[in-house]
Amino acid sequence: MKHIDIKTLFSQSADFLQKSVTVCGWVRTWRDSKGVAFIELNDGTTLKNLQLIIEKDNMQESVYRPALVVGAALKVEGKFIPSERNGYEMIPSEIAVLGSCPQDYPLQKKHHTLEFLRTIPHLRPRTKYFEAVFGVRNQLSFAIHTYFHKHGYKYVHTPIITGSDCEGAGEMFRVTTQPWNAKAKTEEEYFAGDFFGTRTGLTVSGQLEGEMAATGLGRIYTFGPTFRAEHSNTTRHAAEFWHIEPEVCFADIDDIIEIAEDFIKSIISDVLENCPDELAYFDERVEKGLIEKLKKVIASDFGKITYTEAVEVLKKSGKEFKYPVEWGSDLQTEHEKYLTEEYFKKPVFVTDYPKDIKSFYMKQNADGKTVAATDLLVPGVGEIIGCSEREADYEKLKAAMLKKGMTLDAYNEYLDTRKYGSVPHSGFGLGLERILMYITGVQNIRDTLLFPRTVGNL
Ligand code: 4AD
Ligand code: MG
Repeated sequence: MKHIDIKTLFSQSADFLQKSVTVCGWVRTWRDSKGVAFIELNDGTTLKNLQLIIEKDNMQESVYRPALVVGAALKVEGKFIPSERNGYEMIPSEIAVLGSCPQDYPLQKKHHTLEFLRTIPHLRPRTKYFEAVFGVRNQLSFAIHTYFHKHGYKYVHTPIITGSDCEGAGEMFRVTTQPWNAKAKTEEEYFAGDFFGTRTGLTVSGQLEGEMAATGLGRIYTFGPTFRAEHSNTTRHAAEFWHIEPEVCFADIDDIIEIAEDFIKSIISDVLENCPDELAYFDERVEKGLIEKLKKVIASDFGKITYTEAVEVLKKSGKEFKYPVEWGSDLQTEHEKYLTEEYFKKPVFVTDYPKDIKSFYMKQNADGKTVAATDLLVPGVGEIIGCSEREADYEKLKAAMLKKGMTLDAYNEYLDTRKYGSVPHSGFGLGLERILMYITGVQNIRDTLLFPRTVGNL
């Protein structure tokens, strides 16, 4: 269907002014007055609507009337003209209704609550809010690929179906073709009868396979869907999220922290440059001062504090926390919020966590108590990155795995990377939806995903 994107009309207006052009789109709103009718048309290519001015003297009512319907899909031919109020407008000469839209269309009003919109995820992309969210999500994804491509990382695709629980938190969804009432006397017998002949699930992280790729390709990253059967019903947890995991050989924890900071600043700059309309919209409607915040983040250094120092800061804060702070226990959301929102008032790396609350693969520090791991916390969202130098020593890694009760047999290939030409290497995981929340000010992870999957809700 030959037509021009509304975005192109606006951005290359000189080529089209005073000419007849064809556009397609959906009616966002319309208004009828005496001699004229107005339609706000949106085609998803830009947040800006194209205003159609229907001059009733020049068009039969039987042509324009069926187009005065919220949600209807139109193909319109008309003259593209300058306008004092809107910048540009169009005077239609022909209108074809591609798809009419009956009265039960749920998006009749200009503004709907996010809660209501969550009940109609299939229609949300037709609202300005979600057009902006998915516009930034698109640019952000592209920016991430651009960053790694520019810095010589190879994009690898790690398996989605896997037998290993990278994070060891027991949050894997099972993958099976066994009937629900499969008969088996033992667990082994049950899994022996399954598709792969062994227990399998959806990946919680591509890291382990990523490390295997990196210890050959040098620098890699993954960018794909990740699944966690976490029963945390919060505004920051999704059962299916998109995960970016770079893995860098010949890099220690300080190197990877430097890379992570540069990476975050770079992708924020990219979005600032390429999504000005979307960010202006979020700044006005979602988080006042958002653009200033992002500019400040790019211009200043991230904070850095050890876990041990953070515990001291929290204890001295005089705050009444729901969960008491004790060295050795994991930081709760309220603690993370205090550190990043009140104490540092900017993104902060918390480093050197106690080894007992972190994963088996992290490099053990000389103190025997902590690991070379860091989380990047940001105001408003909390943890957006989990990062560490990996334990490169074969014996130490094996001992840590045994201590955590892991079956070494399932990790023989992983252990081989430490047996054959082991190197210092480091990596991190960034949740796409978490950084998207930070960049847009969107408060709930359910509003960053096309079809969010959360506990009890497909
Ligand atoms: O801290 P996590 O669990 O670290 C890993 O998975 C490591 N294997 C990463 C690595 O070193 N390669 O997860 C990393 C990030 C978190 O910081 C968070 O941004 C995101 O993944 N994340 C989630 N995002 C949305 N919903 C969830 N349920 C998430 N769980 C983790
Ligand atoms: Mg983490």
